[in-house]
Amino acid sequence: MQRTLILLKPDCFQRRLVGEIIGRFENKGLNIIAMKLLQITPALAKQHYAEHAEKPFYPSLEAFITSAPVVAMALEGLEAIGVVREMLGATNGLKAAPGTIRGDFSSSRQMNLVHASDSPESAVRELALYFQPGEFCGSQPELLRFLRADDE
Ligand code: CMP
Repeated sequence: MQRTLILLKPDCFQRRLVGEIIGRFENKGLNIIAMKLLQITPALAKQHYAEHAEKPFYPSLEAFITSAPVVAMALEGLEAIGVVREMLGATNGLKAAPGTIRGDFSSSRQMNLVHASDSPESAVRELALYFQPGEFCGSQPELLRFLRADDE
């Protein structure tokens, strides 16, 4: 099982796509194990996007990601990190394949609706930015036995 950090970004919140996107993750069989609505501060943005802080697009990215609330979620599931990244599609909504979240709802490189951790190391680092250890809820949905076999 893997955990991954998801942010439903300000464009997702403002366009009222939160329910639609969470529904896709639920339908796929991923478990929500933590979730909160928050407004990202410039300081948190700099931590979250540390690898992009020196890039020319960073000031615009920070202005965008702090502009309205985001929904932060921890999702858990088999190969969850790769599965979610596939569900999102390419970073640029114009390049993302139809059927992916960005391919279906985004026409932008910056306003691409959802962030998801790109590796196990990123997931550990990013989850710790948004959630305390005690905020993860480990209970499994009853229907899990209809989503995959015990030995998968
Ligand atoms: P995300 O997956 O959250 O990771 C970094 C974010 O920076 C990315 O989604 C986009 O929102 C944004 N981004 C990436 N490349 C660019 C770019 N060239 N110009 C503007 N924003 C970008």
